[in-house]
Amino acid sequence: MRYGTFDDEHREYVITNPKTPVKWINYIGTLEFGGIVDHTGGGIVCKGDPALNRITKYIPQNPASDFKGETLYLRLHNHPGYKVFSPFFVPTLDAYDKYECHVGLSYQRIVSEFYGIRTQVTIFVPLGAHVVVRDIQITNISPVPKMLDVIPVVEYSHFDALKQLTNADWVPQTMTVDAVSDRFGHVIHRQYAFMKKNTAINYFTSNYTVDSWETDRKLFLGDNEYGTWKDPQALHKVRLSNHQARRGDNISALLHCLGTLQPGETRRIVTQLGQAQNIDAALDSIMRFRNPSNVDQAFDALHSFWDGYLATLQAQTPDAAFNSMVNVHNPRQCHTTVNWSRDLSLYQLGFGGRGMGFRDSSQDIMGAMAHMPDVCLALLQKLLSVQKADGSAMHQFYASTMEANEGDSREKPGHRFYGDDHLWVVLAVCAYLKETGTFDLLDQEIPYYEKGVPLDQRPRGTVLDHLERALAFTKAQRGRHGLPLLGFADWNDTVNLPGKAESLFVANQYALALREIIALMEHLGRNDRCAQYQADYEEMREAINIHAWDGDWYVRYFEEDGTPLGSSTNEHGKIYVNSQSWAVLSGVAPEERAHKAMDSVQRLLNTRFGIKLSWPGFHSFDPSKGGITTYPPGAKENGGVFLHTNPWCMIAETMLGRGDQAFQYYQQINPATRNDAIDQYECEPYSYPQNILGNEHPQFGLARNSWLSGTASWTYQAATQYILGVRPTYKGLLIDPCIPRAWKDYTVRRQFRGCQYVVTVHNPKGVCKGVRTVVVDGAALEGNVVPVFQDGATHTVEVTLEA
Ligand code: GLC
Repeated sequence: MRYGTFDDEHREYVITNPKTPVKWINYIGTLEFGGIVDHTGGGIVCKGDPALNRITKYIPQNPASDFKGETLYLRLHNHPGYKVFSPFFVPTLDAYDKYECHVGLSYQRIVSEFYGIRTQVTIFVPLGAHVVVRDIQITNISPVPKMLDVIPVVEYSHFDALKQLTNADWVPQTMTVDAVSDRFGHVIHRQYAFMKKNTAINYFTSNYTVDSWETDRKLFLGDNEYGTWKDPQALHKVRLSNHQARRGDNISALLHCLGTLQPGETRRIVTQLGQAQNIDAALDSIMRFRNPSNVDQAFDALHSFWDGYLATLQAQTPDAAFNSMVNVHNPRQCHTTVNWSRDLSLYQLGFGGRGMGFRDSSQDIMGAMAHMPDVCLALLQKLLSVQKADGSAMHQFYASTMEANEGDSREKPGHRFYGDDHLWVVLAVCAYLKETGTFDLLDQEIPYYEKGVPLDQRPRGTVLDHLERALAFTKAQRGRHGLPLLGFADWNDTVNLPGKAESLFVANQYALALREIIALMEHLGRNDRCAQYQADYEEMREAINIHAWDGDWYVRYFEEDGTPLGSSTNEHGKIYVNSQSWAVLSGVAPEERAHKAMDSVQRLLNTRFGIKLSWPGFHSFDPSKGGITTYPPGAKENGGVFLHTNPWCMIAETMLGRGDQAFQYYQQINPATRNDAIDQYECEPYSYPQNILGNEHPQFGLARNSWLSGTASWTYQAATQYILGVRPTYKGLLIDPCIPRAWKDYTVRRQFRGCQYVVTVHNPKGVCKGVRTVVVDGAALEGNVVPVFQDGATHTVEVTLEA
């Protein structure tokens, strides 16, 4: 079954059937102010922090048909009585003549037709503003006049999102709504928790005369709340009660009476849900967005932002589903992960458990730095500031307070580090330097994290010092085979082995980080630093190849006593994908082993819905292995298709020159290829999920945890830098495609260090890889690194492949 279509021209996905298998969402605004809106208009809004400053109450676990956070009711005067319905379908569930949810770039536009009324609601956060604007346009498309009322409703959360769910006395005793009428005669609802009265209020208002209003959920639903959101009893009365809630479940409902709409007539109402210190502080913003032409302007500005963001890279290839993802939805998801890390989605609920993840954000910025280098740099600096002086890193932090913690490793004394965290930032800094060429970043001083010590008293080091300490930490923390210690966990959070277990993921990640630092030092002419790092690299390469080769693939872990995990000798978890792909990424695997290891991935781990993380799954809980054994076989890390790992295989395959295999891996997880048959998959076809159930599970193919996954960043890197093969280096733009043989030609427009490169690749002989000629602005280039031009101009790059 299909629930919608891609509209690439407008850079939207259009949902045409609201009964999607699970809620499909979109993001509006940023972490500074914004949140998510589902395809039936419900939303979570917060400012700065979804745990500590949440505005709307949205409980995702409640059924899809329920009101969540915000909705809109219309009521037709039927004489006698009213026909009450929601143009968002939820929560009234009326039969519709038309339903479209346009999932746009930071806006959601719902267009529906019910009972001869066409409603279009555009929901977005104007750039830089602290308000959600809902631009409501209502047209009578029937042949007869209609008398109509419009009632937008918001339900508030306590600012402390978790408290809202854990306390049903203190929380409601503190929550209050006042109604104030401003000097223009418009009603503004002012909602606050008593203790925050002088520091922050939420407000809800519109640009239309309000007949009456309600602020208490109990009164709105009626009958001691045996009235329902599907049919609130208050909407069958002529007027709402104008009661100012002094406790309870706070809402804002504003009743606007439009009077009679003639056939063809349209009315426009704009609502605003915002937060400010007080009404006076909000007044300029309120006045601005009451004016529809300012709303139009703000919407155009948002559009221009995305024009600029996406113009960084646009590709035209023979494959439509590839084009949709690479040009719109994948870079857009990268923007989302940079903003929200793993904090707020419909699966990661933002109640304060996690904050920003160190490894997650380090990887996220690698996907978006070409598009928004400044935002990525700011995040990179934050990450470096939660690295510790010993070189390891705090596992997560809260962006609003910059308070950091050690994640789950707190629970395991003696293991207060994750083997991989600090090494990610080496990769991220090098990627940033290749993209931007701003090498002075390396000399910038950034403090190391020390809990409880004021910022200005913390030890500091240059960014280069941070990177070198990260490498030194891993070098010092090694086990019996000379391989890096796992610590609490590495990339795979759920394998938590006791004692001094070793990780082959960290071993390869360390090797890759060493390669990166060697290349950087060489570029900067600091050859004195290279010899030691080169020796460290060789040592690690040798240790991996001597100890971890299992015959057909690489082992994934060694327990403290030397027992391997991820070996043919194991009953469960015989093979793990990451120790194969990363042995290729790091350059550690000799050619023959690289091919063999990736062939084993293809043979033992690949499925039609993607590559599984490991096989066979564990069948029962085993605390000595850790969280992985809490899932049934085929779920999540226990042999599920954990998507984040798939692009690493794509990259590895391109390194081996196997473009058809790389592209197959790309397409089999491309959500856009699921669009025509999605009932088994269930999640959005326009965003990568974190996981899909593997073939050891009876629900093989079911996706979950869409949006906030490292899959976004890495798939984008795999597609643009390794398949399309346009890759930033210190010296310029490397052109090194590895494509399916069937592609005859394609074009990539890439902005790089202030210039525009129009790269056209011709593949007359139908090969996967191998650049024969590169012609830049009409002149043949030696090699395949297009130099950095300083002229801000457009340069054409004609590339011909031949094996
Ligand atoms: C989740 C975490 C990520 C981890 C992965 C595998 O996606 O956010 O940090 O690497 O799971 O365990």
